[in-house]
Amino acid sequence: MRIRIPKGWEMREQDATPETVFLNRRQLLAAAGLSALPAWAQSAKRNEAFTLDRPITEEWAATGYNNFYELNPLAKEGLAALASEFQISPWTVELTGQCNKPQKLDLDDILKKFPFEERLYRFRCVERWAMAVPWTGFPLSLLLKLADPKPSAKYVRFVTVNRPNQMPGMKQAPYPWPYFEGLRMDEAMNPLTLVTTGMYGKPLPKQNGAPIRLVVPWKYGYKSIKSIVKIEFTSSEPPTLWNKLNAQEYGFYSNIDPKKPHPRWSQAIEQLIPTMQRKPTLLYNGYEQYVASMYKGNEH
Ligand code: MTE
Repeated sequence: MRIRIPKGWEMREQDATPETVFLNRRQLLAAAGLSALPAWAQSAKRNEAFTLDRPITEEWAATGYNNFYELNPLAKEGLAALASEFQISPWTVELTGQCNKPQKLDLDDILKKFPFEERLYRFRCVERWAMAVPWTGFPLSLLLKLADPKPSAKYVRFVTVNRPNQMPGMKQAPYPWPYFEGLRMDEAMNPLTLVTTGMYGKPLPKQNGAPIRLVVPWKYGYKSIKSIVKIEFTSSEPPTLWNKLNAQEYGFYSNIDPKKPHPRWSQAIEQLIPTMQRKPTLLYNGYEQYVASMYKGNEH
């Protein structure tokens, strides 16, 4: 009889170190000055409402296989090394447009102001690769409410930092930089839409969108814009980078749907990194109960 030794990532959730023990260990390390983690990362408790139907992706895979075109539009691996010049501190995020309280927030203020939590989310790229990640963040709605959006604010536009001298990919590809994305107001206010500053209990690595990004788990990954510096309330649908580059292939909504093929490939199956194990794609990436009521079925 063959005895199969489970891989590390096959660990069942109940076999993991209980969170209280884990947090205590972190707190002890912090007290002894042995931890580089900021306070928010140490105290963000897991929100148990969000469960997975698959193991958490190994950290080395989720942080070593990326799409970050500003670093390199042609490669997914080795992006950390290309981010060495990318300065993520100091960092500000501007809230602007159709709102009563436009303002610029320092990242340190954001880190102090909001109730950070950890959420296990499935994440699905339009290219079919998928992962499951513990993100640390807080609902975008809390940040948006600070700016007191006007009734005329129907959409939200997001813009990534524009630093061609620090991000080598920006000089490689003639894209209409900086990267820009958008959501409808109800999508932006949906409790699932997460402003994210960490993963795996640590600050976001640069290649994953440090210091602050969006995670929109029911949409293809390109909607989850990285390294955000500007959030603008608009009255009409904002253009998005991928839609501008190829409107046939990348719609504004980009909701995950196994029955709606990409013009060049089926979306019925996804592949889990790093093994590329195949799994059926789930409608809205499995988040139907949270988001289906926002759509009438003709958004794309
Ligand atoms: N944001 C910016 N600014 N630039 C990018 O190239 N790539 C997008 C999205 N956000 C991208 C971005 C795409 S295509 C995907 S699939 C995800 O980031 C990948 O996130 P990850 O590298 O953390 O897995």
